[in-house]
Amino acid sequence: MSDLNTLEQRALAELTAVADEDALRAWNTRYLGDKGELKQAINNIKNVPADQRRTYGQEVNRVKEALTAAHDSAVAREKEKALERSLATDRLDVTLPGRAVSRGRLHVATQVLREIYAVFADLGFQIYTSREVEDDLHNFEYLNMPPHHPARDMWDTFHTTTRGVLLRTHTSPGQIHVMRQFKPKPIRVILPGMCYRYEAITTRSEIMFHQVEGLAVGKHIRMSDLKGTIVAFARRMFGEQRQVRIRSSYFPFTEPSIEVDMDCIVCSGKGCSLCKRTGWLEIMGAGMVHPAVLKHGGYDPDTFGGFAFGMGPQRITMLKYAIDDIRQFWGNDLRFLQQF
Ligand code: PHE
Repeated sequence: MSDLNTLEQRALAELTAVADEDALRAWNTRYLGDKGELKQAINNIKNVPADQRRTYGQEVNRVKEALTAAHDSAVAREKEKALERSLATDRLDVTLPGRAVSRGRLHVATQVLREIYAVFADLGFQIYTSREVEDDLHNFEYLNMPPHHPARDMWDTFHTTTRGVLLRTHTSPGQIHVMRQFKPKPIRVILPGMCYRYEAITTRSEIMFHQVEGLAVGKHIRMSDLKGTIVAFARRMFGEQRQVRIRSSYFPFTEPSIEVDMDCIVCSGKGCSLCKRTGWLEIMGAGMVHPAVLKHGGYDPDTFGGFAFGMGPQRITMLKYAIDDIRQFWGNDLRFLQQF
């Protein structure tokens, strides 16, 4: 018992003499550590006569608590001292330049989509997002492509293990969803979103890519409305001098169908490497909504008409920024993404 008291007195006396954090750590190891003196005192309990063990045990615990408490306040004291020391001696140079904060940014694909939204919003189009997992009916049949229609070959398709369920190969199935939701009212929407095609990935084609579909349905919609809309879009997006030309084409869901070219943004039609010396860049497919599609959407083709177009914003972005590899878009290489 008296050994315990001497131990306590000696430890506390030493603690008052401790001058820095290193010495404090050494003190802690010596007295409170795993192999410390207090541990030895605890182990010593087996040598204490049985009738005194209880009191001895209580006394050991008391000493342990006393030393732990003393140690805690010594730690606080040393911390305080260290802080005062650094406040007194350290100098803060407020004239040093700050560290640059690197800010996050929107993906270039998102930036371009938003530019496109802004242009069409000005033209009175609403944005409608449709599903990426579709069924055969919406992706093909309602768009005037019955099973075995040869035009289905234009879209190599990812099928799921559920029969008739597939990843949309274009945003056109959204036309049906919009028409069915809004019939019999006039419609002016764009349908942006991811599309999927079961193709070889090359520098020019990806298995996933965005499309922006446009759809207008009303009682007096003509080809000239389609042309005016496309010209307005091209000029707002690429500059007021842009020229647009249309070529006849074929899609099962539009009649007549067209393909739209814009004069080259680099050479303005003179011919350069971007436009492969033709002076023109292809920007979208389009046409007047086929009567069969209007019918599937719930509109009477004798009263209603419409136009539709579909473009690939990644292609447009590649033209605009001279990106030579479409795989960069989803490659997540920061060196690429941070340029935008
Ligand atoms: N869906 C067509 C494609 O993916 C593009 C298109 C949309 C053509 C609307 C005409 C009208 O190629």
